[in-house]
Amino acid sequence: SAHSDLIARLPKAELHLHIEGSFEPELMMAIAERNRVDIPFKTLEEAKAAYDFSNLQEFLDIYYQGMNVLRTEQDFHDMTWAYLERVKQDNVVHVEMFFDPQAHTERGVPFGVVAEGILAALKRGEAELGITSELIMSFLRHLSEGAGFVLLDESIPWHEHFIGVGLDSSEVGHPPLKFRGLFERCRELGFKLCLHAGEEGPPEYVREALLDIGADRIDHGNRAMEDPALIQVLRDTQTPLTNCPLSNLSLCVLDDLKKSPVKTQLEEGLLVCVNSDDPAYFGGYINQNYEAISEALDLSAGQIIQLARNSFAGSFLPEDAKARYI
Ligand code: ADE
Ligand code: ZN
Repeated sequence: SAHSDLIARLPKAELHLHIEGSFEPELMMAIAERNRVDIPFKTLEEAKAAYDFSNLQEFLDIYYQGMNVLRTEQDFHDMTWAYLERVKQDNVVHVEMFFDPQAHTERGVPFGVVAEGILAALKRGEAELGITSELIMSFLRHLSEGAGFVLLDESIPWHEHFIGVGLDSSEVGHPPLKFRGLFERCRELGFKLCLHAGEEGPPEYVREALLDIGADRIDHGNRAMEDPALIQVLRDTQTPLTNCPLSNLSLCVLDDLKKSPVKTQLEEGLLVCVNSDDPAYFGGYINQNYEAISEALDLSAGQIIQLARNSFAGSFLPEDAKARYI
């Protein structure tokens, strides 16, 4: 596209990435064989054909099934390392990555296996690729608040290794306020709070995340644009919004990227950035997301640069590190 060189060249931070959503079918098939676990497809073509979603839940069912082959520290390391090597090519210099421990502990994989595998790859990524990183532990919102407290408890030995907590999985029917006490406790522990809100759920969920929970970042946030008062709050607080264009398209949050809120959000002075969410499932890593949104909304070079700047401004990097990129 017209801005491919600019997009490729820009240093970027990725702030909305589920590491289990970067698990490519090739690696999944290799690890399935290594661990002697059955998977429902035999070829790359069969896998890709199954990745055809009409809503968030259809994706989540396949996403949780895919990660079932992950059993050992090595598996979690290999998945994380593959992501880092891939986005090095996209000039990602910093990543703040979600992981979904409950999707592993619920099937008997200990928290430590998950965390140590991911952390080993992140450490290697900084040493060998120069990519800095932070980890965000996400709670599955289709589970109870009590289950979230159990996770918070069993993760205590690793608390120094993550910067924040997240809220993801099935949104509708599971509003932020279901987890009020849990996030209050996480805030007291010093964690940043990043909540998925307004992906499929109504603007009211974004309002709860922002005003009742005190979210530091809103993941997606598309439907906030239905509420002018909420737009005003997002502008005044400069709360980062982590938009994911190809995810929105794959999960039918949008039927056309031309309807994406990103350009309006930029024009309204909101701190929006572009991310890949689950690149192995949605057809593109971060640069492909920049390409797709730039093309669909006819973004200017200045707007593309603003999106990359916003990715650093919205990060949890220390101010001096941010300043190098903003
Ligand atoms: N888990 C992984 N990707 C997700 C998404 N886009 N929304 C909610 N939960 C998720
Ligand atoms: Zn997400």
